[in-house]
Amino acid sequence: MSQGLLIVFEGIDGTGKSTQCELLAKSLSKKQVPCIALAEPTRGTWGTKIRRLLSEGRKGISPQEELSWFVNDRKEDIELNIMPALRENKVVLMDRYYFSTAAYQGALGLDPEQIRLENEKFAPVPDRTLIFQTSPEKCLERIESSRDQKSSFEKLDYLKNVQEIFKSFAGPNIRFIDSVGSISEVHEKVLAAIEDLFDFDLK
Ligand code: TYD
Repeated sequence: MSQGLLIVFEGIDGTGKSTQCELLAKSLSKKQVPCIALAEPTRGTWGTKIRRLLSEGRKGISPQEELSWFVNDRKEDIELNIMPALRENKVVLMDRYYFSTAAYQGALGLDPEQIRLENEKFAPVPDRTLIFQTSPEKCLERIESSRDQKSSFEKLDYLKNVQEIFKSFAGPNIRFIDSVGSISEVHEKVLAAIEDLFDFDLK
């Protein structure tokens, strides 16, 4: 592990990926593995602009412009957080990365494959991408029971399209996780999907 490891958690809202990302960070820390958990959109300049979009709605912003905000946020995150941690040989856990951009901005009519390729020109490719899957109906139920307000991105038809794009991703480092089951059951699936990246037992 001379250059750290990049492990990414992806999926539509309400799949439980953020909980699983935090849980893995705790498990790795218990094993004394140096790691850091990051999330996009970030809390930086672009991330703050994006969060306003999430709470107030898209209001005339073009898909292309929206895409550029997520890309700018990611470029900042790579420079300030991701690359420095990888250089320190840390395991970097990401709650969302460029697969979200391909899926969510792709569902606005942009070309998902093109978005993925453009991102891979500047963004380190993950050692493992875990794509969490639950039905969009179930995800919306979970969101509604856990929060007062949905974001403007959390509409059923839109999430169904986003989910379809997530399903279409393929590659040697991509694994799909069926996130039905208890938190600890899904955590076991996460460990099983990454154990080959480590030269010690994760459990
Ligand atoms: P989310 O992970 O739900 O953040 P939080 O839990 O802090 O609210 O991300 C917010 C939304 O941003 C989510 O609906 C997905 C969307 N998103 C995109 O549309 N494109 C992207 O590139 C990323 C990273 C997120």
